Amino acid sequence: MSQRISEVINPIEDTYNLSNYEEIRHVYDWHQAGEDLRFRDTGKVNIAYETIDRHVEDGYGDKVALHYVDGETRTSMTFREVKEKTDHYSRILRSNGVKKGDRVFIFLPKTPECYISMLAAIKIGAIAGPLFEAFMEDAVRDRINDCRGTLLITNRDMVSRVPQNDIPSLETILYAEDIEAAPVEHGGEQVEWMDLEDGMLIHYTSGSTGKPKGVLHAHRVMTHQYESGKWVLDIRDDDVYWCTSHPGWVTGSVYGLFAPWLNRATIVIQGGRFKAENWYQLIADLKVTVWYSAPTAFRMLLSQGDVLKDYDLSSLRHILSVGEPLNPEVIYWAWERLGVRIHDTWWMTETGAHLIVNLPGEKIKPGSMGRPFPGIEVGILDEAGNELPRGSVGQLAVKTPWPGLMKEIWGNRDKFDSYFKYEGWYVSGDLAYQDDEDYVFFQSRDDDMINSAGERIGPFEVESKLIEHPAVQEAGVVGKPDPVRGELVKAFIVLREGYEQSDSLLEDIRIFVRNNLAAHSAPREIEVMEELPKTTISGKILRRELKRMEIEKQKEAELKKV
Ligand code: WT7
Repeated sequence: MSQRISEVINPIEDTYNLSNYEEIRHVYDWHQAGEDLRFRDTGKVNIAYETIDRHVEDGYGDKVALHYVDGETRTSMTFREVKEKTDHYSRILRSNGVKKGDRVFIFLPKTPECYISMLAAIKIGAIAGPLFEAFMEDAVRDRINDCRGTLLITNRDMVSRVPQNDIPSLETILYAEDIEAAPVEHGGEQVEWMDLEDGMLIHYTSGSTGKPKGVLHAHRVMTHQYESGKWVLDIRDDDVYWCTSHPGWVTGSVYGLFAPWLNRATIVIQGGRFKAENWYQLIADLKVTVWYSAPTAFRMLLSQGDVLKDYDLSSLRHILSVGEPLNPEVIYWAWERLGVRIHDTWWMTETGAHLIVNLPGEKIKPGSMGRPFPGIEVGILDEAGNELPRGSVGQLAVKTPWPGLMKEIWGNRDKFDSYFKYEGWYVSGDLAYQDDEDYVFFQSRDDDMINSAGERIGPFEVESKLIEHPAVQEAGVVGKPDPVRGELVKAFIVLREGYEQSDSLLEDIRIFVRNNLAAHSAPREIEVMEELPKTTISGKILRRELKRMEIEKQKEAELKKV
């Protein structure tokens, strides 16, 4: 099967300038990268300036910067309008006392105001902390508390999930409606000129132990984001680019906002939930040319079969995927039905931008994530940190440093250091192998992290929430293999004395996690056990054993079907 797919999809040469891409692998050099960015002239930098203002200065003020679509709502804004609005937001943040280095959180749905709030905070030297729109109160509070955020921008629809009084550092809550309604002043330079090492963005990401960690990125990340936007997203001046992720996730900020706008793309911001018909309609109406999404979404579209035949999707030139393993069937489907290949990309919140990619026009090997981005060197390491020969499975690591690499984990030096346990390497936590042509094949995580629909979920955070429920004494949470979501969150629990297992109790527990943490973290399945498997010495819950049992059960069920 995979042989056949490779034969079918390799020889696409259509609109691409192949020699260009082959050449960059030879000549690419991080020192030369980002020549087009203005900080090269001054040494001083601000990614918000490079993202928007620079284009206005260069004469592209009238170019459409964004299309916003949500149900019946359709609006557009030019680069000049985005700049002016960003300046307006920046002035209001300054008048509320925001200073360089402050952490400004943004808790908004996928709307232009969300993107503009992020840029406005960064423009005046603050660190933007975008929060996923579906977070519940506890998730919002934990994150703002962790890095002592001082200001939150939200809107009144989110109010029930905004913690009002119990975050000591939080001085101000601003509502986007009020900022929009405030009189616009003109003039006054808003850009705060920064050093490359100054922080600009904080994203919280799950670990297998403990609460989510604040991954801090510095302004220098822009070189990597700009270059990957140019080479991997392949952005050209007449493109309409759509990344489906919310900026609360790193894909939605780096490839929804920074990389495309650093490359002066017209972006699409789409609100509302996933619905195949709406997605296809959007592509057809706006003539989307470059589309970045995730395997779960592609699998859902694939499962809806012929829905796509009613839409004109011929504008699509380039499709990319990220976040979880991309099934060869999905690549094959897109090639067959859309006539376009899906290009897998691999990176992490911590890495700032793409590290392993399929460049346009280069050979794709279905089942592989692609090859290291030019300027990036990958190693597959054994337990002692030595490089393994090609073909062997080991820890996927990357030679340090590179421009996108995170600056720190907020307030957690030990956690930060744990990524660099082997001299000269960043260790990803993934297991993979690399073939003789440099293609990297993902195997699994090397830890207990769950990947459901491309979202990284830390089992510890879900377990901690479960045992806050009065009926739950102990909990172990694992990822159960699932054909659409990759994995789904499954919880094994031990009930407290006096509680009887029932469907309504389990539903109550599930809703408890959903309402207090986030919908995507709530266990889709809960199984009650007499006791959980544990290590004999330290008594730690053996998630690996739970997962093994679960996979065994699934295999047995499969066998019964035959
Ligand atoms: C983890 C990082 C920043 C991208 C979105 C997720 C998994 C990422 C792939 C891929 C298989 C992938 C890895 C990685 N992952 N891309 N193309 N194929 N797995 O970012 O939440 O920081 O998660 O996502 O396990 O370590 P994240």
